[in-house]
Amino acid sequence: MEYDIAIIGLGKLGKALLARLVETQALQRSEVVGAHHMPAVAIQLEESLGIRVVDSDSAAAEKARVVFLSVRPEHFTAVATDISPVLRNDQEVVSAIAGVSLNRLRGELPTVGRIFRAYPSLLGITGTPGCTFFCAERCSEPGVSTPVAKVIGAVGHVLEVPEVALEVSGVFAGCGPAFVARFAMEWQAVAAGHGIEAATARQIVSGMLQGIGAALGEGGMTLEGIVDQIATPGGGTECGIRTMEAEGLRDMLKRVAERCLEKVRRIDSEHGAR
Ligand SMILES: NC(=O)c1ccc[n+]([C@@H]2O[C@H](COP(=O)([O-])OP(=O)(O)OC[C@H]3O[C@@H](n4cnc5c(N)ncnc54)[C@H](OP(=O)(O)O)[C@@H]3O)[C@@H](O)[C@H]2O)c1
Repeated sequence: MEYDIAIIGLGKLGKALLARLVETQALQRSEVVGAHHMPAVAIQLEESLGIRVVDSDSAAAEKARVVFLSVRPEHFTAVATDISPVLRNDQEVVSAIAGVSLNRLRGELPTVGRIFRAYPSLLGITGTPGCTFFCAERCSEPGVSTPVAKVIGAVGHVLEVPEVALEVSGVFAGCGPAFVARFAMEWQAVAAGHGIEAATARQIVSGMLQGIGAALGEGGMTLEGIVDQIATPGGGTECGIRTMEAEGLRDMLKRVAERCLEKVRRIDSEHGAR
């Protein structure tokens, strides 16, 4: 096969995936082909990304071992109609398209080998290791082929989940960092309200988040371990945590998750993804 991967959809996700594949040396640029249906855009993308970009989805798909689909949901049918006739059993498809199920992918791409769905979280594609959740057809079959593993592993940790949990896991992992950052901004503002200069409050909060990251990463700690270590019985931290619980922390987070998921699902269905 001429290329390891064809990226159909070189927007935010497709470009970020390409950048990560190259940075992590999982693949060379010469091993990747991209596609954009408009010839002028294909030429521009080829120049800016340094990979071969063709103006036909099927021409890219037929030459690659793994076909990565990163178009918006409303474009899935057009792409599937174009690439389906050229796909063969020795190729695999990895789809990141929100809301398009394994069943629907199989129905529209009947001849391809195995099909996977992947949901990369944003922190991963912006350069910081994040998570890619994935599910596969015939999930009882062990293992994932090496080319697929390279693609889904490019953004960081890889976690296999049942299809029913794919998008929910992706939304929790993808939106979660923004919620934690928003919480930290509020903590910063509260610190500033206690007479700490705004710049110092920012440093305190950013140092605190980096410390938590390091403790969980190289420090090998758990969140519970961090709380235990800091919250001495009868001390100020324990009192603060009790206050957060009594003020409805869990209920507030449940409402945040419900509204966030509702919104994501509404956007998917408005785009006719299901
Ligand atoms: N961004 C993320 O972090 C993320 C995370 C998980 C999953 N996803 C999923 O990944 C998909 C892409 O998201 P995105 O944020 O990267 O969207 P995006 O920036 O809009 O990228 C989609 C790209 O596909 C191109 N395109 C449209 N029709 C095409 C066709 N027939 N052939 C080739 N390319 C075509 C679009 O070109 P034009 O703009 O010229 O139409 C655009 O460049 C979505 O389904 C989304 O649900 C994204």
